[in-house]
Amino acid sequence: MTHYKELGLVNSKELFQKAVKGGYAIPAFNFNNLEQLQAIIGACVETKSPVLLQVSSGARKYANQTLLKHLAKGAVDYANELGYAIPIVLHLDHGDTLELCKSCVESGFSSVMIDGSHHPYEKNVEITRQVVEYAHKYDVSVEGELGVLAGIEDEVSSEVTHYTRPEEVEDFVKKTGVDSLAISIGTSHGATKFKPAQCTRNADGVLVPPPLRFDILEEVERRIPGFPIVLHGASSVPPDLVKLINGNGGKLNDAVGIPEDQLRRAAASAVCKVNIDSDGRLAMTAAIRKVFTESPAEFDPRKYLGPARDALKALYKHKIINVLGSANRA
Ligand code: G3H
Ligand code: 13P
Ligand code: ZN
Repeated sequence: MTHYKELGLVNSKELFQKAVKGGYAIPAFNFNNLEQLQAIIGACVETKSPVLLQVSSGARKYANQTLLKHLAKGAVDYANELGYAIPIVLHLDHGDTLELCKSCVESGFSSVMIDGSHHPYEKNVEITRQVVEYAHKYDVSVEGELGVLAGIEDEVSSEVTHYTRPEEVEDFVKKTGVDSLAISIGTSHGATKFKPAQCTRNADGVLVPPPLRFDILEEVERRIPGFPIVLHGASSVPPDLVKLINGNGGKLNDAVGIPEDQLRRAAASAVCKVNIDSDGRLAMTAAIRKVFTESPAEFDPRKYLGPARDALKALYKHKIINVLGSANRA
């Protein structure tokens, strides 16, 4: 057993309380490899932002759990070396079983998500409560979820959104003991969050997605005041990145995300953690495709992963400063 404190990590409890009170959200950036980790830590240190390093079960398989543990410890040391000891949480994204959550707690994670949102309500309560009982013995934070986002989460995918039912949140939080709650208010995973038929078009012909259901968020806040809320599927899918990808041989059709002004509004509320993965993938892919178009003879990975890392860091700084408001909160 490696406890997260041995790695210099923190859990999310205090960070979330401060974020809810302060009217900002903490970034949860997904990572799978070294360059992504370097970009996250570099961006968060330079902006003095707390951060959740977020790892899906697929990412854990990809990167290897032993390496991940050392990478997380390395991230803490790297932040110190860069000159500012930001609080770093290592978080399991979309855990689907008690066994996976236990294994993460035992290998140094300071926070886990148990996503029972695809189960019937009572089963979701049961599995979430079991994870909380285990994780809290080690002071590890637990995120649960009510409502289902459209899109793909590892092996689980849903064609349609099932909005969170506000009338369930008090009971769920009380019965499970979770520390934070992910809700579904119209965000979605991936880079194609909505079908064109669900959107309108602005004067330039750009797809405009349906607005988020702030009425649901407000009703949730009214029922569990001050309780930390999490927003998944919060990439904005910047059109300039999609254009860069498609202009350099890519084929991303109908890519559309959540407008940043809506994310800003959510971050100012009880939403205290915002999950961003797809935008990072787009930024890296755009930078790599550009290098390959401009320098087809290039074959040194540092020559395309380096620019990808720079682009990623710039994107993260933008999110922290202009969207989430978490700069100078570390
Ligand atoms: O919600 C899903 C995250 O973007 C993780 O994606 O399962 O492909 O690693 P992944
Ligand atoms: P995006 O696909 O919008 O980046 O969402 C990521 C996410 O919710 C990870 O859990
Ligand atoms: Zn998610």
